[in-house]
Amino acid sequence: MQLRRFENKVALITGAGGGIGRATSLAFSREGASVVVVDFNAETAAETVRLIEAEGGTALQLTVDIGNEAQVKGMVEQTIAKFGKLDIAFNNAAVDVHSTLLTDTTEAIWDRVIDTNLKGTFFCLKHEIIAMTARGGGAIINTSSLAAITTAPGIPAYTASKHGVVGLTRASALESIKQGVRINAVCPGAVLTPLLESHLKIPGMKEHIEAQHPIGRWAQPEEIANVVMFLASDHASFIVGQPIIIDGGATIL
Ligand SMILES: NC(=O)c1ccc[n+]([C@@H]2O[C@H](COP(=O)([O-])OP(=O)(O)OC[C@H]3O[C@@H](n4cnc5c(N)ncnc54)[C@H](O)[C@@H]3O)[C@@H](O)[C@H]2O)c1
Repeated sequence: MQLRRFENKVALITGAGGGIGRATSLAFSREGASVVVVDFNAETAAETVRLIEAEGGTALQLTVDIGNEAQVKGMVEQTIAKFGKLDIAFNNAAVDVHSTLLTDTTEAIWDRVIDTNLKGTFFCLKHEIIAMTARGGGAIINTSSLAAITTAPGIPAYTASKHGVVGLTRASALESIKQGVRINAVCPGAVLTPLLESHLKIPGMKEHIEAQHPIGRWAQPEEIANVVMFLASDHASFIVGQPIIIDGGATIL
């Protein structure tokens, strides 16, 4: 039987045109939420909205670059204007610029990754917390990564950005929990999305990922969505400021 934990709730999801974001948008919609579908790629976000509406769900598409504070402020304002509130936010949009050793990382690569993944998450948190606090609270989940716990050669900026997201999660959770805003993070291992599919073209990468995860496979995006929905639900009411690792056992190796 389909659970309906988010009836009459409004859930905003960034990176909603991509793998994890799209799966989570559909999952929240199936459980009754109205979904604010945010991405800077208008085409892929429109496809997410189409999929939600085809199942009878309600969605609002917003084309936003999370690295731009004015656009992020507008994103929250348009959500409130349309639905009157914001109950849940999943700050999930990020970029990954691979295969640059630290000594080859240019300032432009560093800035692109940090400006999206870390500064963008900061902008989202700031304006979501302001809106939620004014309306009695809510739940926020940030997407960090296994790269906040371990790392690999060639992803120094991404690793720093995802460690930063865990730090931001703790700092914002501490400041917001007494106002009723409960903030946590998810740290996924390898998940089969367009982002991972591009990496699988690298010779030996598939074998590396299978060996890295004791479960012997990568995750499906829905396996991350399930944890995000748990963290957003009242069943996670005492979980505050935690990076939840979802990695098929990678960190027990
Ligand atoms: N796929 C994995 O193996 C994996 C593992 C760990 C963590 N993650 C994290 O999961 C999240 C989702 O990744 P995914 O695998 O679904 O990737 P994806 O590339 O399929 O989706 C990311 C989405 O974010 C959007 N986006 C990027 N920059 C943006 C910006 N500045 N403003 C608005 N939207 C922007 C993209 O257009 C895309 O739709 C990311 O935070 C990623 O770092 C992914």
